Amino acid sequence: MEGMTRKAPAKINLALDILGPRPDGYHEMRMVMQAVSLCDTVTLEEAEEGFFLHADGSFRPAGEKSLEQRAAEAFFQELGRPCPPLSVGLEKRIPAYAGLGGGSADVAALLRLLRRRYAPELPLETLERIGLTVGSDMPFCLRGGAALAEGRGEVLTDLPSLPPCWIVICKPDFDLPTGEMFARARGRIFQTRPDVDGMVDALRAGRLEGVTKRLCNVFEEVLPAEIREEIQGIKAAMGRCGALNAAMSGSGPAVFGIFSAAEEAAAAEETLRAWCGQAFLTRPIERPEDFTV
Ligand code: C5P
Repeated sequence: MEGMTRKAPAKINLALDILGPRPDGYHEMRMVMQAVSLCDTVTLEEAEEGFFLHADGSFRPAGEKSLEQRAAEAFFQELGRPCPPLSVGLEKRIPAYAGLGGGSADVAALLRLLRRRYAPELPLETLERIGLTVGSDMPFCLRGGAALAEGRGEVLTDLPSLPPCWIVICKPDFDLPTGEMFARARGRIFQTRPDVDGMVDALRAGRLEGVTKRLCNVFEEVLPAEIREEIQGIKAAMGRCGALNAAMSGSGPAVFGIFSAAEEAAAAEETLRAWCGQAFLTRPIERPEDFTV
């Protein structure tokens, strides 16, 4: 089989609300998610034996099962046939453990490659169900574009993507594990909650400033004090660079700022890279129309 390749876009959370804990150990969420042009690249090839993950130039058989291997096995279980030997290549650009859905984006791209190669008729809903077995934001990563995400994150309502704008993403040089952030949020009463309905209406009406004035992420309230200061510092820097507004994405610590002017966004990327090490100039992307491939 020829190697097949697919882009795996990152996501940002324009709004993130936690409604409360659920009996299954997860939290009930209400989020507005947007796919962006910052992406990894995933390649799928058949191998001689086993399941190989190839990231950053080094082939390694996965010791503890990777999310990619678990997803591939769940995919072939759904088809009722054994998982063939596979080699999966990851060209990483999305920072990991950043709140940008990088890990899930790679698995989603792999599932779509598997579908293209082995089961082109498999419905999107089935792929989303398989995805959900490896992560709550997998269904969104499989769909892309923009969506209201409820439940664990898997109950999706498609929305129009952000109107044309520039998004600068800055990743400070520390990680925030998602599970720990949810543990900090457990039982918490948040002071400021996002106006999710207002944001949905603004996206439907194509009003950029209606969206940007409603950016809000309740995880920012549960950050440890010194980290909260750093996140606020990055948001303030985005504002000084001309951002309409800025917020943390997902469980952090990546922060994004939304700009209407390309020059200001490009200057902000440079300023923030000099300050924080990792900064990316991106754009919102539409839902891919090629779900058939
Ligand atoms: O689903 P995923 O594996 O990405 O979730 C990682 C962790 O985040 C879960 O183990 C859970 O602790 C927490 N989580 C949650 N509620 C959600 C999604 C994730 O509590 N809706």
